Amino acid sequence: MEILGIPAEDYPFMLRLTQQIFAPADPDAMPEGLDLNDPAFQAKATAATTEALSGYFSKVSADRRANPRDDLSSVIANAEIDGQRISDMDAMGYYITVATAGHDTTSNTTGAIMYGLATVPGLLERVKADLSLIPALVEEALRWSSPAKHFMRSVTTDMEFQGRHFKAGDWVMICHASGNQDESRFPDPLSFNIDRPKSEHLAFGYGAHMCLGQHLGRQEMRILLEHLLPALKSVELAGQPEMMQSRFVTGFKHLPIRFEMEAA
Ligand code: HEM
Repeated sequence: MEILGIPAEDYPFMLRLTQQIFAPADPDAMPEGLDLNDPAFQAKATAATTEALSGYFSKVSADRRANPRDDLSSVIANAEIDGQRISDMDAMGYYITVATAGHDTTSNTTGAIMYGLATVPGLLERVKADLSLIPALVEEALRWSSPAKHFMRSVTTDMEFQGRHFKAGDWVMICHASGNQDESRFPDPLSFNIDRPKSEHLAFGYGAHMCLGQHLGRQEMRILLEHLLPALKSVELAGQPEMMQSRFVTGFKHLPIRFEMEAA
């Protein structure tokens, strides 16, 4: 939000729209006035959220064209390719992707980190004693939780892959969550294990559209843990975790924990 130059008072509104777009079927996130049993629910929910986001960012765009500032919104608003200003639709794509991509993805992974610390015996003590293990903890939480469950790709040329035939124009669901639990790559894939040799997970996707914010996301979680772990004495589950209901971006919605802090 800060990079885009969004004022802090609008952060809750942006978070709400992000959760709506990532998990429209969750009762706590769904847009108001829609019925989950309506066969057109998904299309209506996406349209309602996109409209709200586009309405917000149209104003941001107009403002940054009139008064450019040192923020990413000004870059998007005034971006040109070959001397031509990018279309409003392209600009909206950039605003909406950047605005939504970094919220629940990062907090879902942080929830998975906390789950690992609360449930894997000795893990908290081990990482506290050696903070250089933090990156391994973050990478395993990314693999284990895979917050962005899937993205779609279009096949560009007819091809065969592992005995299956694809035609140009076919849609393929790239299921990061499934790839990250491939037992031929990740033995005992459901266990939370920070000692996996070299993770090479797919939580940030792959190829040209691989997550633009992966370094920022990793850095946020590393810094959080560098501050939290020295102060955290113990943590355990204190109830049944509950997941956000979505087939797109999900993670723990509620993760009840009981914790103790180190004496100051
Ligand atoms: C743990 C945190 C995060 C996870 C798991 C995650 C995951 C993903 C995934 C799976 C994709 C799609 C990749 C593909 O299509 O191959 C993506 C794209 C993207 N992410 Fe993230 N993301 C995270 C954090 C962030 C943050 C903090 C930002 C910062 C704004 C961000 C910005 C983006 C953008 C702009 C794209 C679109 C890139 C493109 O289409 O070229 N992400 N992310």
